Amino acid sequence: LHGESKPPLQLLLAAPRGFCAGVDRAIKIVELALEQHGAPVYVRHEIVHNRFVVDSLKAKGAIFVEELDEVPDDAHVVFSAHGVPKSVPQNAQDRGLAYLDATCPLVSKVHRQAERQVEAGRHIVFVGHKGHPEVVGTFGQVPAGTMSLVETAEDARNFQPDDPENLSFLTQTTLSVDDTAEIVQILQERFPSIVGPKGEDICYATSNRQESVKAIANRCQLVIVIGAPNSSNSLRLVEVAKRGGAQSYLVQRASEINLSWLDGVTTMGLTAGASAPEILVREIVDHLGRFFDVKEEQVTTAEESIIFKLPRELANETSGAA
Ligand code: F3S
Repeated sequence: LHGESKPPLQLLLAAPRGFCAGVDRAIKIVELALEQHGAPVYVRHEIVHNRFVVDSLKAKGAIFVEELDEVPDDAHVVFSAHGVPKSVPQNAQDRGLAYLDATCPLVSKVHRQAERQVEAGRHIVFVGHKGHPEVVGTFGQVPAGTMSLVETAEDARNFQPDDPENLSFLTQTTLSVDDTAEIVQILQERFPSIVGPKGEDICYATSNRQESVKAIANRCQLVIVIGAPNSSNSLRLVEVAKRGGAQSYLVQRASEINLSWLDGVTTMGLTAGASAPEILVREIVDHLGRFFDVKEEQVTTAEESIIFKLPRELANETSGAA
C-alpha cells in the first residue's frame, strides 16, 4: 500500500459468540479419550460441525466415520454432540464396543422429553430441519410414527394430526428464535391443548448468539459469520444479520472472505457459530488488519458461564464402555 494509509474499518465483535458449553465438552471428550486410550479413537459423525476442529482432532489421532459399522471391534468410539438415535448405543453395546457419548446435555434433555411425551400417549410435533443429525437423533428416541416433523410456518398451518386433542411439541436446539416463536404460536392457536416445554428447547447458546448479532446488525453494513455450511446455528446467525438490515456471509476461514464484500463498508460485524473456535475470529481480524485500519469494539449482550460435566468414566479416569 506504498505510503497510502489504509481505510478505516469499525469492527463490531458480537458477544457471546463461538464455542458453547456443549461443543467445548464434546471436544474435551475426544481429547481425553485420546489421552486415556491412545490413538486411534473413532468419532461417529463430525464431533461438532467445524472443519478446523475436526482437522485438529484428526491430527491428534481421531478417525471420523459416518456409521458404526466403519468402527473396528476393539476400538473406542465417541458419538457427536448432536446426539444419536437409540439404535446407535444399542448397536455399540451389542458389539461390545467401548463408547463415549458426547451428546450435548441440552439435546439429551429433549430426548428424555420426547420419551416422556410418548409414554404419556401424546403425538409429538417436532420443529426442526429435516436431515440434520440432531433431528435424526431425536426421532430415533421414539417409535416410528409417534413424531412428525414441522419445518416451517406453512408446515405448521397444514399439519393434520390424527388426534388434535393429544399433541405435544418439541424443538431442535439450534433454530431461529423468531421463526420458532411464530411456528409455536400457529400450533398453539390451531391446537389449544398442545403441551410444550417450559420456555423452549432452543438452547441458551443459540438464543444468546442470535441476540448479540441482532444488537450489532443494524449498525453494520456487513456481518461475517464464522461457521460451517452444515452448522444450523451458524446459518441462523446469517439470517438474523440479514433481517437486521446488514449484508451477511458465512465463512469457514479468513481465506474465504471476498474483499469486494467490503466495498463501501465502514462498519462491519463479526461473530462465530457455537462450533467455531475463537482462533478463527482472530485469524479474520488479523486478515482484515492487512487491508484496513481496524478499530475493534466488543458488543456484549449476555454473560455466559455454563460448563457441562464430563461423562463419569472420563472424569474418574477409568476406562470402559459408558
Ligand atoms: Fe448444546 Fe446448544 Fe451447544 S444444544 S451443543 S449448548 S449449541
